Order: sequence, then structure tokens, then C-alpha cells
Amino acid sequence: MSTADFVKRLIRADVQAGAAYQVADASGMVKLDAMENPYAWPEPLRAELAHQLADVAMNRYPDPHALRTKEAVRGWMGIPAHLDLLFGNGSDEIIALVVSNFIGSGRAVCAPDPSFVMFRVLAEQYRVPFVPLPLTAECQIDRQAWLAALADTSPGVIFIPQPNNPTGNLFLEEDLRAVVTATDALVIIDEAYTAFSEREHLAWASEYPNVLIMRTLSKVGLAGLRLGLLIGDPAWIHEFDKLRLPYNINIMTQAAVQCAMAHHDLLESQSIAIRSERTRLTELLSQRGFDVWPSQANFVIAIVPKGQARTVFEHLKHSGVLVKCLDGGHPLLHGALRITVGTPTETDALLAALDQSPVLGR
Ligand SMILES: Cc1ncc(COP(=O)(O)O)c(C=O)c1O
Repeated sequence: MSTADFVKRLIRADVQAGAAYQVADASGMVKLDAMENPYAWPEPLRAELAHQLADVAMNRYPDPHALRTKEAVRGWMGIPAHLDLLFGNGSDEIIALVVSNFIGSGRAVCAPDPSFVMFRVLAEQYRVPFVPLPLTAECQIDRQAWLAALADTSPGVIFIPQPNNPTGNLFLEEDLRAVVTATDALVIIDEAYTAFSEREHLAWASEYPNVLIMRTLSKVGLAGLRLGLLIGDPAWIHEFDKLRLPYNINIMTQAAVQCAMAHHDLLESQSIAIRSERTRLTELLSQRGFDVWPSQANFVIAIVPKGQARTVFEHLKHSGVLVKCLDGGHPLLHGALRITVGTPTETDALLAALDQSPVLGR
């Protein structure tokens, strides 16, 4: 038998039919497609980081519990002592291990629709049923539809990003509370974008027995380190920790995060700069005729006039500016470009390119 025959016989048919997660090539481009923080560290801090990494014992396995890193992150985020935390290689890994708990249980994974794609992708990979929960035309929780779907399907876990990606908004607090109290599922409030938002929900992990909070360092300037966290009652964290691969947080990441936490004021000031640039970007895009949705995250949704989203996206790409085109996916996102908030210079480059667009040019 050839290798191809072995692969064909042994790899799941749905895996063979599917595709790997696609990431657009952004080399040399103004990169506004992935909700990253655009700011590098100043030189003295980079030197300090290099110095600390040089001392790392790469020949040894990392601390499997990342205890010092946990204490540093706990301190920065103000996580109370009665809550525990679990680290993942990005929140993607945490989503994977939570979903993996429901393999074969008959219980579904739920998430708003539209929302972050990995909830559905990982449910499909693990063959756990996925139930999308619809949003209203205002991108809010459709409370009646959600409660009906939850009663019908009795899911195991509901992931709710707050603010939601890609819509960028917070859901009404009373709707969120109604969902949390109506369901017997675990509710994971995904606060990936909480650094840019007016409301956060950490206290809910103490208030409700079925709520956990998920966060990440990716959006505050450390996407390359891959560190996500799940915060909640030790009874939950203890069980999910059993599903975690040993040594999932590598030794360089642990050291670099400790260094970053010692300089958390830098991360905070960068997030403040991103919030203020979000206001400027919103105004400038609105002046050019885009309908820009109010955002609580580090990106905005801009609806391109005249149904020309794909054309404008391709023009921007051709001009060296990469954004994300969401047109053609969910009906709520008809004509939508998702634009990550960059530096003022990057905003200027985006606007200069837009002004040259054959569709929108002024
Ligand atoms: C809502 C949401 N959750 C989680 C993530 C993934 O974060 P991480 O980089 O920690 O895997 C993203 C990334 O864009 C996101 O939008």
C-alpha cells in the first residue's frame, strides 16, 4: 500500500475533506486583519527581555503549573484568591480542552452567531454538536430564540465573547444574566477584548456557579507568546486541568510573560492608545461614507456602501493594506470589512489607500 492509501484509510473522511486553518500572508503589508496590538516594545525593555530570556534553562521542561507566571498575571488582573486559573497555549487551546470534555456526552457547544469561528471549528473537529445562537438585527442576544434553543438542546457549554467578535459590541447585561440563570450549561464569558471595553465580568465567576471567565494576552500586545487563561471556581479549574497537556506553556513564554507583567503599565498605555485611535478611525471612516459600528474592541466593522466590500478589500490588499472581508458570510455582515485598529500611521495608510479606491475615491 502507498502512503496515500494509508492516509486515505486511516485519516477521518471529514478531516480529509476539510482544510487547515487559513491565515492570509501579510508579509510587507500594513497588517490590520488579526486584532493584534500594533506597538512594539521600546528598546530598553527589549534589552531587558533579551537578558531574561538568555538565562532561561531551555534544556529543562518548563514549570508544568507555570506558578510564578500565574501569580504575576493574577496580580495584574486582580483575580481574587478564591478563584483559580488555568493557562492555555492561547485561548484557542482552552476552547479545545473545554470542548473536548463534551466528546461523546451528547451535549452541544453553543455560541452566538456570528461569533469567533473557533467555537464551531473545534466542535466540528471533536464531533461535538454545535448549536448557533442567533443575534438580533442590532447584534444583541435574541433572548427568546436563545432560551428556546437552550431548552431544546440542553448544551454542555455556551461560549459568549464580550465584546463579541466580529460585531464588536457588548450584549445587554440583563440578557446575559437571563441566559446565565436560565441554563444548566457552563457559560464561558470570553473576554479577549476586555482591555478595550467599558464592562467586564470577572465578578460573575464568583456570583454564578456556572460561569467561568476566559481571557488572553494576545490582544494586549503578546499574541506571539500564546497565553490564554480560564478563571473560575477551583472545582471547575481542577477538572479542566486534567484535560490539559503537560508543559503546554513553554519556558520562553513563561519568562517573557513575567517580564511583561513587571511592565504592565506599558501594555495598559498601549491599550489606551488603541482605544483613542479607534475613535479617530471610526470618525474618518464615517466621513468617507462607511457605516461604522460602535466598537468596544480593538477593531471596527465598516459596512462598505454600494455592496462593494469585496472590491474595496481587494483594492486595499493591492495597495498593501490587509483587512478582513466578512462579506458573503453571515447575513448580518453583508458588506462588512473588519478593520483592526492600528497605529495612527497605519490608519493614515489605510485612509490614503481608501481615497484611491475606484469605488470610493473622492
Ligand atoms: C473572541 C475571541 N476569543 C479568543 C480568541 C483567540 O485568542 P488567542 O490568541 O488567545 O488564542 C480570539 C482571537 O481573535 C477571539 O476573537
